[in-house]
Amino acid sequence: MLFRKARMSDTKDIAALINFYAEKGVMLPRTLPSIYQRIRDFTLIEENNTIIAVGSLRILWNDLAEICSLAVRPESVNRGLGSSLVKKMIQESRELEIKNIFTLTYQPVFFEKCGFKRISKESLPQKVWTECVNCPKFPNCDEIALIKNIG
Ligand SMILES: CC(C)(COP(=O)(O)OP(=O)(O)OC[C@H]1O[C@@H](n2cnc3c(N)ncnc32)[C@H](O)[C@@H]1OP(=O)(O)O)[C@@H](O)C(=O)NCCC(=O)NCCS
Repeated sequence: MLFRKARMSDTKDIAALINFYAEKGVMLPRTLPSIYQRIRDFTLIEENNTIIAVGSLRILWNDLAEICSLAVRPESVNRGLGSSLVKKMIQESRELEIKNIFTLTYQPVFFEKCGFKRISKESLPQKVWTECVNCPKFPNCDEIALIKNIG
């Protein structure tokens, strides 16, 4: 099992995994161009030449990053991969000296187990919402906000 940063040749597999869950309504979809433009944000787990988990760390500000598009292949859930990927992205934030990581999710209990605390969406700074105009749910965001301080 290999943890690594994503490359352009991974984009179709990343989109397929995210959009498999997006079609079920459990996470938000990603277009290929949005992955191309953010490819450096993505970390993934590979096993037997197959991508089995992906997650992305989007930097918002000098002290704030977001974990988004976290997905583990259905046959690989409950093996600790999702939480390991979250830990990897927390480590990446630490190396970048970013002290707060938040997420908007439909799986708050999973993130609570990773040490995140629920907060009201209104308490997040305005800059968090800049890309939301591209979201199919805009302006009726029903995701739950959680944050973790790693300072
Ligand atoms: C949510 C998801 C990323 C979890 O990944 P995973 O690899 O199965 O999670 P882990 O095995 O690391 O689980 C860590 C802990 O969280 C718990 N957990 C996992 N998914 C959970 C969920 N949906 N709700 C509540 N708890 C959950 C596990 O039971 C485990 O608990 P434990 O430490 O007490 O044993 C994965 O199920 C997934 O890809 N789901 C579809 C996409 C999605 O909803 N992504 C969420 C971000 S938008």
